[in-house]
Amino acid sequence: MSMYTRQHYGNFTLLKRLCSSNYLDRKTSDLYRQLYAKILACGPITLAEYMKEILTHPTVGYYTTKDTIGQRGDFTTSPEISQLFGEIIAVWIINEWRKITKESIQLVELGPGRGTLISDILRVFKKLNVLDKISVHLVEVSPVLSMIQAKKLCIESKNSELKVNENQKNSVTHYREGVTKDGVKIYWYYSINDVPREFSIFIAQEFFDALPIHKFQKTDKGWREILVDIIQEVKQEKFRYVLSQMPTAACKVYLSPNEKREHVEVSPQCSIIIDYMSQFLWECGGFALVIDYGHEGEKTDTFRAFYQHKLHDPLLNPGTADLTADVDFSLMKEIAEKDNRLITFGPVTQRKFLKSLGIDLRLKMILQNATNVQKQQIESGYHMITDEDKMGNCFQVLSFFPFVLKDHLKKWPVAGFENQG
Ligand SMILES: C[S@@+](CC[C@H](N)C(=O)[O-])C[C@H]1O[C@@H](n2cnc3c(N)ncnc32)[C@H](O)[C@@H]1O
Repeated sequence: MSMYTRQHYGNFTLLKRLCSSNYLDRKTSDLYRQLYAKILACGPITLAEYMKEILTHPTVGYYTTKDTIGQRGDFTTSPEISQLFGEIIAVWIINEWRKITKESIQLVELGPGRGTLISDILRVFKKLNVLDKISVHLVEVSPVLSMIQAKKLCIESKNSELKVNENQKNSVTHYREGVTKDGVKIYWYYSINDVPREFSIFIAQEFFDALPIHKFQKTDKGWREILVDIIQEVKQEKFRYVLSQMPTAACKVYLSPNEKREHVEVSPQCSIIIDYMSQFLWECGGFALVIDYGHEGEKTDTFRAFYQHKLHDPLLNPGTADLTADVDFSLMKEIAEKDNRLITFGPVTQRKFLKSLGIDLRLKMILQNATNVQKQQIESGYHMITDEDKMGNCFQVLSFFPFVLKDHLKKWPVAGFENQG
């Protein structure tokens, strides 16, 4: 780690060369060019800015322009590994929904990836005859992934023209809509803020770990922010981490005065979304399930990149690898429980959650009609998502319910979270 100096400020010769000539031909991507020019012109950027540009830049972002999830991508996820995952989540949703209301609900998924989880959920909903009581709302920033989701889920879908009226009446806040072969309506949104304010069940599976983070380091002189700068050697320009010379605005706003750790990661966007969702659930009713890798406020340096299923240097060839960081479940709980808006249960390990919801029984059932090859695949998927040394322990599950249900849920505890809360 080197100290950040602003010596390159005003280095327009290099900037001009960068923006004009063949100088950049050997650079890996447009994204590299944009980040490089930005840092050269304005100085080092925060890691949050670096992550946001790389993951969700509208024309050259990692998620916005590619399908990178699954065996052939850079990383895979529980719903992509085993259908058991989505089936168990579906059973959990119905169980909790029916305890609260018999009315229709909005099923909202944040960051649905390839649409596999929602597709597995809908299959179970169909078997249990509840499809006529739901509409599906997908919050997806990526046009490429939203097309893949539409292909998987819908018999027809079309883009919508966004229309926002002040009084909300006749507003169109979704950018695409479609319908499944069973007649379920599906809507796509860029942001959770656009989802209609009705009783909703939110699912976020490996969504929050993809949101940008700020990184802070305690030094002899106090807290400093870790920024991304460039090494300015003409023949081998690269990105590098530097420390801010002074505490940045983010140091002042996002760090708690009681912070004990020496290195801290904070995702303001995660906090904003959890806050919005908490207010939503408190005002409109519903509940939420978050599944992700994370910690309870004790972890420090978790920022990492994945390229073709291997760890990768996050500063190398930006835009080619997935960037991610563990989520802070304790902060999520604190935000949700503020002013007694919600109560939370968990986090519990994915293994414990899936097992207490009956994944072993479901495994036995689907093995009965499987061929030998299928059996092998199903069992290997099951082990991958439940074993302690695989995804079973490092992934955790946290649930959120309106505070008014506290006594109700004491009588009828939330499945998978018995003895929690
Ligand atoms: C790590 S993938 C997880 C996909 C899926 N849930 C799964 O488990 O297979 C993250 C998903 O969140 C979406 N995403 C990332 N940042 C987002 C944002 N700011 N707003 C909405 N969606 C976002 C990505 O496009 C992708 O669909």
